[in-house]
Amino acid sequence: VELLPYNTFGIKAKAKHFTTVGSIAEAQALLTSDLFRKEKHFFLGGGSNVLLTKDYDGLVVKVEMKGKDIVREDDDTVTLKVGAGENWHALVMHCVAQGWGGVENLSLIPGTSGAAPMQNIGAYGVEIKKNIFGVETLEIGSGNVVNFSNEACQFGYRESIFKHDAKDKFLISSITLTLTKRNHKYNISYGAIEETLKQNGVGTLSVKDISDAVIHIRQTKLPDPSRIGNAGSFFKNPSIHADLHDFLQKRYPSIPSYPAPDDLIKIPAAWLIEQCGWKGKRFDNIGVHEHQPLVLVNYGGGEGEKIWELAMNIQASVKEKFDIVLHPEVNVL
Ligand code: EPU
Repeated sequence: VELLPYNTFGIKAKAKHFTTVGSIAEAQALLTSDLFRKEKHFFLGGGSNVLLTKDYDGLVVKVEMKGKDIVREDDDTVTLKVGAGENWHALVMHCVAQGWGGVENLSLIPGTSGAAPMQNIGAYGVEIKKNIFGVETLEIGSGNVVNFSNEACQFGYRESIFKHDAKDKFLISSITLTLTKRNHKYNISYGAIEETLKQNGVGTLSVKDISDAVIHIRQTKLPDPSRIGNAGSFFKNPSIHADLHDFLQKRYPSIPSYPAPDDLIKIPAAWLIEQCGWKGKRFDNIGVHEHQPLVLVNYGGGEGEKIWELAMNIQASVKEKFDIVLHPEVNVL
């Protein structure tokens, strides 16, 4: 099966087997099937955070569970259970249309709702962990339903238990989000949001105003994966120790930085990559995005292996110039 339609990087690669699961019952049947037990397997959501570097010699399972159901509601909040296969941005638009607050800063992030907690998607000052009430999974070994509370998900920056201890052990079937119906806690700390709101002449804020601003910012800065293949940020923003930061700041007084947990200092990978001269660089049909060098792009027909090679060259040059190791944010297969 050709995987080109199933990855936003637009890479041509084949899977030996491919199937979809649209319900818990279907997933349970698959998990206990001979084919599943025999083959190595990979679960795919929207394919927006994956780089395929070669054909996949196993079974790719596309998760398509649907549903957006209110499971609890009072005057202030609503708790929504969302099938893992629901498109994330369509879900955000649904919440915005209802006037429910909490996920508006996460507008226009590609991918599915079930993939959102994996890497604790985040943008413009908000991470999904703020809204996650819980995550429902199927244990891969048994097919049993296992629920994770917010705390049990061990969320961190682009991290969760599903990338570590629970990796390859659970299939996310749905997520539960808590959203506000009134007294919304808006986050407009990200400079560009404030500027856009001002430009749009927004007075009393609404959930939709923030969503509109985020959509505008993303559309001007980030390549649209339906037109130019990409998987968003390729690397995570690294955190460094204060002594390395002090050393670098003497050499590069303009180095941007943000406080990070554990007394570390976060440096934007985009800045490091730009300083190494990669911004806007094109190599045949692949390259580094002109407005956001953290995003690697496939202009069409690019090979996953070549993109990986480019990523490793970027990583090596940042290591050499700054002694900082960039770690991929996308899943490399
Ligand atoms: N910068 C440059 N040159 C550039 C662009 C940015 O030096 O060409 C520096 C600037 O100092 C800028 C800083 O990088 O202030 C941060 O840039 P930006 O606000 O665009 O965000 P980012 O840190 O590069 C992160 C997320 C994005 C998310 C944005 C907005 C990661 C790995 N990426 O990028 O998420 O949309 O913040 O909040 O944390 C994704 O994960 O796929 C993704 C796109």
